[in-house]
Amino acid sequence: MDIGVNPAARSRALMADLAALDTPRVMVGVQQSTDHIAIRWDDDLVSGFRALWLRDNCPCSRCRHPRALERTFMFIDHPPARIRAAAIDSQQLLTVEFTEGGELHVSQFTSGWLRAHDRSEIRAHEARWRPRLWGADLAAQVTTLAYEDYMGTDSGVRGWIEAVKLDGIALLRGVPQVSGQLLKVARRIGPVRASNFGDYYDVVSMPAPNASAYTAMALELHTDLANWRVPPDIQLLSCLKNSVSGGESVFADGFKVAADLRELDPKAYDLLSTQPIEYRFHDETSDIRAVAPVLEVDAQGRLMRIRFNNWLRGAMNVPDALIEPMYRALRVLWQLLREPKYRLNMRLAAGELIAYDNNRVLHGRSTFDASSGERHLQGCYLNQEDLDSTLRLLDRKTG
Ligand code: OGA
Ligand code: ZN
Ligand code: ZN
Repeated sequence: MDIGVNPAARSRALMADLAALDTPRVMVGVQQSTDHIAIRWDDDLVSGFRALWLRDNCPCSRCRHPRALERTFMFIDHPPARIRAAAIDSQQLLTVEFTEGGELHVSQFTSGWLRAHDRSEIRAHEARWRPRLWGADLAAQVTTLAYEDYMGTDSGVRGWIEAVKLDGIALLRGVPQVSGQLLKVARRIGPVRASNFGDYYDVVSMPAPNASAYTAMALELHTDLANWRVPPDIQLLSCLKNSVSGGESVFADGFKVAADLRELDPKAYDLLSTQPIEYRFHDETSDIRAVAPVLEVDAQGRLMRIRFNNWLRGAMNVPDALIEPMYRALRVLWQLLREPKYRLNMRLAAGELIAYDNNRVLHGRSTFDASSGERHLQGCYLNQEDLDSTLRLLDRKTG
């Protein structure tokens, strides 16, 4: 193992971390008190780290399992650590001597690991992946990749994941028109997320459909599996045949529409982001329900998910006084979604596979005439974690 040159090998050996944590920045000074360390970098950034936190993240083989690389250190079994000394060596390693009661513990941290854990680096990383909101104008610029590049090259799969993360949508062309081929596309990233519709499902007009998708009806903009407590993250729709008249696809950036709704009608936004409503799917073999707001926000008020599906919307179980406000809020959101400026129209052709973030991008289709030709799509789902993990594995390779 060439610890000096390969960043991934170096951070594994020194930080028990498989990510290639490297930085071109140089630590030029360190100041310490008993409970805090401040590192000055050659770009004048100053990073602060608390003693308790540093001690808890000690990468040594007594504090992390040397093979599993997971934490074995139990901070509750140790008196709070105090810093006795800290120094930077010629290898850009920070050595910290802690005292815990009467015990001494020495930890070492690489500059790459410390830099990656600086607040400003964490914020920059978040900013790098902030969604790029879009409207109808994206139609001409949907990231489009060749199936061969996606399957066969690192840059192909990286480009696809980046587009799905930033735009919430990406298109593949030249997918072999073989039933189940979408599973190969999905498994390039990770295991598929199964549902009551199976590992994957055929979207065709059926004589006895158990879902609106399996008809020739138009499907208004929606997100899938809104009736699940945690709906699937990424949807893949692969087109095997589409020779019917009608059956055009439509997509909208739910985060863009929600951001505009927040400006135009804050009351509607507030209600949709706080008041849960029921969603439900049922057929002979399942009855799956979830209760959640249309707009799910995190503790910081950031929109995390839009859950929107008219045919899966249950009988609204909200207090009487909220019935009218809730219908009003839903109406305002619907009206926005029907505005052409938000709607990306496209017609899927055989051999194309569209993927989108089901927590963000709504999808739909126009009605089609099932007797005018053939229409056959196949769909499946992926977990966001596997997209992120694949990207990190690619980063490990490139350093
Ligand atoms: C679906 C769906 C769209 C289409 O299967 O979830 O919305 O174009 N299908 O048939
Ligand atoms: Zn340790
Ligand atoms: Zn759908």
